[in-house]
Formats: sequence, C-alpha cells, structure tokens
Amino acid sequence: MSRRQFLLSGGVTIALIGLGSLPGMVQAAQLLKASYPRQKIGSLPALKTGVPLDFNYPYPDVRNILVKLGVEAGGGVGVQKDIVAFNQQCTHMGGPLDGTYKQEHQVLGPCPLHLTVFDLTHHGMVTSGHATESLPQIVLEIQDDDIYAVGVMGLVYGYSAMTSQRTV
Ligand code: FES
Repeated sequence: MSRRQFLLSGGVTIALIGLGSLPGMVQAAQLLKASYPRQKIGSLPALKTGVPLDFNYPYPDVRNILVKLGVEAGGGVGVQKDIVAFNQQCTHMGGPLDGTYKQEHQVLGPCPLHLTVFDLTHHGMVTSGHATESLPQIVLEIQDDDIYAVGVMGLVYGYSAMTSQRTV
C-alpha cells in the first residue's frame, strides 16, 4: 500500500467513526438538558435588540443573561428565533462574564481571566481562548408576551450535576 493509499484509507476510517458517533453525541446533549421549574424572566415588549438583561436561574447564585441578538440563533425563541439566554460563568475556571456581551459579534467575552470568547448564535460555542466546553444555555419558552426559563443545557461551572449544591 502506498503512502497516499494509506493516508486515504485512514481518512475514510476516521470519517466513518465520526459519522457513527453522531447519534451518541445527540443523546449526550439531550442528557445534559435538565428541566427546572418554569420561571418568568422577561417580556417581549421590554426586550431591546442588543441590550442584555440579567437574571438568576435555576438557583439564586447562578447568573445569566437574556438577550435579543437580532440574528437567528441555535435554541433561539421568538418570531426571529433570536432571543437566547446563557449562563455568565466561564466554563474554563468560572471567570465572570458579566458585562462582556458584544452586540456587533453576538458573543460573550473575552473572559477576564484567560480570554475565552463564546458565540451566542451557536449554543455558546467556544470561538477562542482556554475553555473547551460551550457556555450553558438556558432553555426558553414564550407564552403570550412573557419569556420563561424552563431548563438548562450544559453544566454550570462549579456544579458536578445540576443540583442546588456547588462542588467548588
Ligand atoms: S476562566 Fe475564563 S478563560 Fe479561563
């Protein structure tokens, strides 16, 4: 087998392994989605594009932002699917992301500790920096003009599971 053939066969194998793991990845994401009591966190008339609102959920010490991005986002709600909510603690070492939202790029960050930036249009995916985990996304629902938090996708920094007890 030539070097070229070897490399090509390796690429096919890696691609097949990748495809085979997709159902498992979807299942893992679903397992990380935890439901909590429904809590009103805002209203459509009061929410202005690019102006985030702070709220705590699902526990009093867990800080989040609710923001209307102005562009469609993964997990977004509303007519434009552009209203999202995310936890404000960096997934790397818990750095505070409060006040770091950038409307021009729809990102949260850079984290003041090690400069991680999170893309709020793609489920809080890391775009740069030291973190490897996406930012936990708050699951939202709209009823009439009110916005409700109903769950959390991902693990908030400091919790080993989404219980009311922090581990650090
Ligand atoms: S704590 Fe945020 S990048 Fe390290």
